[in-house]
Amino acid sequence: MSDYVSATVDALEMQDEELIGMDLLRACEAAALNVFHWIGKGDKEAADAAATDALRGMLNITDMCGTCTIGEGIKDQAPGIFIGEKLGTWRDGSPEVNIAVDPIDGTTLTSKGLAGALTVIAAAKAATHDQRTLAAIPSYYVDKIAVGPKVKEGTGMIRLGATIEQNLEIVALKLGKRVRDLVVCLLDRPRHEKMIHDVRRTGAAIRLIGDGDVAAAIAPSMPESNVDIYMGVGGSPEAVLAAAAIRCLGGEILARMWPRDDDERKQLEAAGHGDLIKRVYTTTDLAVGEDVVFVATGITDNTMLRGVRINGRIAVTYSVVMRARSGTVRYVKAFHDLTKKTIHLASTSRHERL
Ligand code: FBP
Repeated sequence: MSDYVSATVDALEMQDEELIGMDLLRACEAAALNVFHWIGKGDKEAADAAATDALRGMLNITDMCGTCTIGEGIKDQAPGIFIGEKLGTWRDGSPEVNIAVDPIDGTTLTSKGLAGALTVIAAAKAATHDQRTLAAIPSYYVDKIAVGPKVKEGTGMIRLGATIEQNLEIVALKLGKRVRDLVVCLLDRPRHEKMIHDVRRTGAAIRLIGDGDVAAAIAPSMPESNVDIYMGVGGSPEAVLAAAAIRCLGGEILARMWPRDDDERKQLEAAGHGDLIKRVYTTTDLAVGEDVVFVATGITDNTMLRGVRINGRIAVTYSVVMRARSGTVRYVKAFHDLTKKTIHLASTSRHERL
């Protein structure tokens, strides 16, 4: 580990760490660093390609038998890492893991130089090559609702089928707040017009975001986010990524497929997913087992992490690493010396200078 890491890292624990958290951290950092020069340059495809190149390159030198079960490619034909793609060295004896990635959650934010973009990876150990530990949801979008640990505890739980009023009353009761003091986070989309209207009618405040609902869905589980509940329709891969973090933090996310139109519904039915359309996935359905790790690095500043900074020859990255088994949440501020730093890129299969 050549980078100076400000967090206290227990070397022995990291050696025993089954879920290669440190390697995933370095992969996330590399993706965010490789995208730095695309921030605010108006080219989201180039930014996404740069992040993906670094992420794939770094994951491929990680000692694991990794299978991508959630990739960015499905939602918008981005140059993503695709479902079924083998990641890692696949050396005998390496851990079998399902991998979910989003090289950039917030490509438009990145291209516009706006706050809220991050690189994200989730990994969950599998017993065999075929075991699914990070759900592969076949629809483009899911309807989601996410809350923190206090709302999850005890009896009476929010439901996807309940009215906004009913759900907000439960959240308020469990948090010991009045409904009008709640903060509800939603993606700013025309499809949410009615939802926004219904939330406003209860008197609760709305935090509308332009993009980036991985961090937004995690926010209610982060004690200092000042977001009480996240709801609305967003990307399916993003729901699984958020679920991995929410597993680690003790909150809950519920998700149900949201076909965009009749064509997508028919496609899902034709592919044999008809029975699953109404299924409500819980956090543990989306991220299965205890051996779940979530890692993210900020690209631009966001609610969870600061974005990449470059001061002369030093680049600074801010990341978080979470483990479900221990519930440990590590914030890692890393200083990278750009005169020495290299990143293994998939496009050249070599370590390259930034
Ligand atoms: P990208 O970074 O892939 O553009 O995704 C950003 C995002 O805002 C996600 O966080 C969210 O789940 C999804 O897009 C919502 O999709 P849409 O922009 O189609 O409403």
